[in-house]
Order: sequence, then C-alpha cells, then structure tokens
Amino acid sequence: MATVGIVGAGGLVGSRVVEVFHEMNIDDLELYLSGYEKSVGKSVMYKGEQLVIEKCDIEALLKLDIVVLCTPTEASRDLVHALMGGPVIVDTSSAFRMEENVPLVVPEVNGDNIHQHKGLIAGPNCSTIQLVMTLCPIHREFGLSRVHVSTYQSVSGVGYRAIEELKESSLQKLTTGSIEFSKESSEFPHPIAFNLIPQIDSFTDNGYSKEEMKMVNETRKILNIPDLPISCTCVRVPVFIGHSEACLVETVKEPSVEKVTEILEEFPGVTIVDDLSHQLYPMPIDCENTDDVYVGRIRKDLSWKNGILFWQVADNLRRGAATNACNIVKLLLEDGR
Ligand SMILES: NC(=O)c1ccc[n+]([C@@H]2O[C@H](COP(=O)([O-])OP(=O)(O)OC[C@H]3O[C@@H](n4cnc5c(N)ncnc54)[C@H](OP(=O)(O)O)[C@@H]3O)[C@@H](O)[C@H]2O)c1
Repeated sequence: MATVGIVGAGGLVGSRVVEVFHEMNIDDLELYLSGYEKSVGKSVMYKGEQLVIEKCDIEALLKLDIVVLCTPTEASRDLVHALMGGPVIVDTSSAFRMEENVPLVVPEVNGDNIHQHKGLIAGPNCSTIQLVMTLCPIHREFGLSRVHVSTYQSVSGVGYRAIEELKESSLQKLTTGSIEFSKESSEFPHPIAFNLIPQIDSFTDNGYSKEEMKMVNETRKILNIPDLPISCTCVRVPVFIGHSEACLVETVKEPSVEKVTEILEEFPGVTIVDDLSHQLYPMPIDCENTDDVYVGRIRKDLSWKNGILFWQVADNLRRGAATNACNIVKLLLEDGR
C-alpha cells in the first residue's frame, strides 16, 4: 500500500489531481487530502469513497510516502522545509523549479530525471509543460535552433478566485455596460472580461514578465539546452480553462510539414487536430478536462526555410499541472520511490 497526500486538494489543481488519480486507478493507492481554509471539511469522491479534506497537519503528512503540493508558491516553500526528509515531495508551484538539485520533470520528455531527486521534484509552469511536449520531438528529429512563442492563457492559471472574477465581471459588463474595477481586490492588473492583458505576473528588469522568463528558463532546463535561443510574449485572455500557444520554431535541419506532423502524432500525450478543409484546429473550448496537447495549423515559415509554425492548446489544470504531477507520482511508485 502506498500513501499519497495532496495538499491544496480543494483548489483548481489539487481537485484535478484527485480526479486524475481516480481515473488512473492505481492499485493499493491510499490518498490523504489536505486543505488550508476554504476547502477544509469538504468531501471528494475517490474510487467510490467520500474522502474528507482535512486541515493541513504536518505530523500526518510526514508519515506518508509521497506528498503532492498544489499550493501557492509561498506555502509550498514553507511546506517543503517542514516536510524535507520525510515523504518524497512533488511540488506544482514555482518555488524550487530552477534550483540546481531539484529535477524539473515532464515524464514524457525527461522522466529519467526523477532518479536524481533528493526528496523533491518540481512540476513546471503550465505553459512550459505543453511547450516542451512539442519542442522535444522536434528537437530530437531536426535540432532546435530558435523558438518564438506567444501564449493566450486562461484565467484558471491564476487559481479559483480568478474564475469567479471573470464570471462576475462578465455578468456586470453585460447587465450594466461597465465593470467596477479595483486593483486591490482583483487578481489582474486590469479588467479581464472582454479584454486581453499582455502581462502575466510582474515584470523583470529586461522588460519580460516573470511568466515569460519562467517559460524561457524552465524550457532550457527540461530540454537540457542551456543556451537555447527562445523568447516569448504571454497574454492573459478571458477564457476559463485552456492555454493556447502560437509557436514559430527554427531548426538545424529543414523540417517538412508531413514529418513534423508525423513525429508529433507519435509523441505520447500529443494529438494532431489539423484539417483545414473542415476548419478543424485545436481550441480551448474542446480541450477542457483532457490530458493531451492538441496541435494544428502546422505550416512552413514563409520567411525562412528551416522554420515551422503551429498552434497548440492544452487544459492548463490537467495537462499543465495535475496530470503531470500524477504521472511523476506513478513513475516514483513504479521506481519504488
Ligand atoms: N492553475 C494552473 O493552471 C496551474 C498550473 C501549473 C501550476 N500551478 C501551481 O499550482 C499551485 C496551485 O494552484 P491552483 O491554481 O490550484 O490554486 P488555487 O485554486 O488557488 O488553490 C490553492 C490551494 O492551496 C491551498 N492553500 C492556500 N494557502 C495554503 C497554505 N498556506 N498551506 C496549505 N494550503 C494552502 C488552498 O486551500 P483552501 O482551499 O482550503 O483554502 C487551495 O486549495 C500554485 O502554486 C500554482 O502556481 C497552477
């Protein structure tokens, strides 16, 4: 019997982790659900049983085999310090992702790295996970020489309060014609309903946002290409679930649309949706509650022979966080931790 704790089990990512474990139906897996305030006392279905979300209790978590942290960055930082030396920790936050001795893992891409863990494994940013799942097979086949990405990220990337804010402000705009906005109480720097915000997280000194720099640095670490030329623009869009990315990838060897389509299709966790004659391409509305990265609009760059463009979409809560964390746990269990 393996025991796995989920901290933040009532949050957007944590509740999906329970869902994904339920669907994985791993034999002899016992879950312990932990919350902080809002979700404590709520119950969640897992394999036909109602599991109650308990108040976060360090002593209880220390007795488990593995703990998955689905908590805000600051909370993860404190929890890792309190739990280190006990269970193996899988952290979905950004707190430790770039630390040298912490593997940053997307199992389909660099699953072997879990063997190097020293008690803590980090899951990447949601937009990074879906990006590396398409860059990895392209790199193996053609060699990456440069990557440009623009993201269109849903509000669920911020947490459950952001979903409520988009619902309430959309309704307000439709019923009254305007939005009462206060920076102090908002999850965003500007109203998000009927808007696009080219800022995710705060800005760094080089003019890029922290989210953009997370994508750059995490992608380089996961693909193990420390000097990969990559830049991106991250935009928040009024979509509830599903991040979209417009990618322009330059390669060492000249790519063809057919070969790129073939290698992406063969890669685990990637599905091609690309039929222009039927107006078929990936869209966030179709990817909710799914685990794959959907890729379409694959086409050659018109300005440079070694460039390929495509559009990709994934459920940021499942593929971009929960499914990845559960896949890491599955690898740990197969590996005897
Ligand atoms: N959302 C995404 O697309 C996404 C993707 C990749 C990674 N992540 C990362 O995943 C983590 C969770 O994100 P989320 O979107 O699920 O956020 P969320 O919906 O706001 O949920 C956060 C959860 O953390 C719990 N919590 C808050 N403070 C805590 C503390 N001090 N100690 C223990 N638990 C605490 C809350 O418990 P109560 O409900 O009981 O108050 C809540 O259930 C974040 O670090 C985020 O950056 C998110």
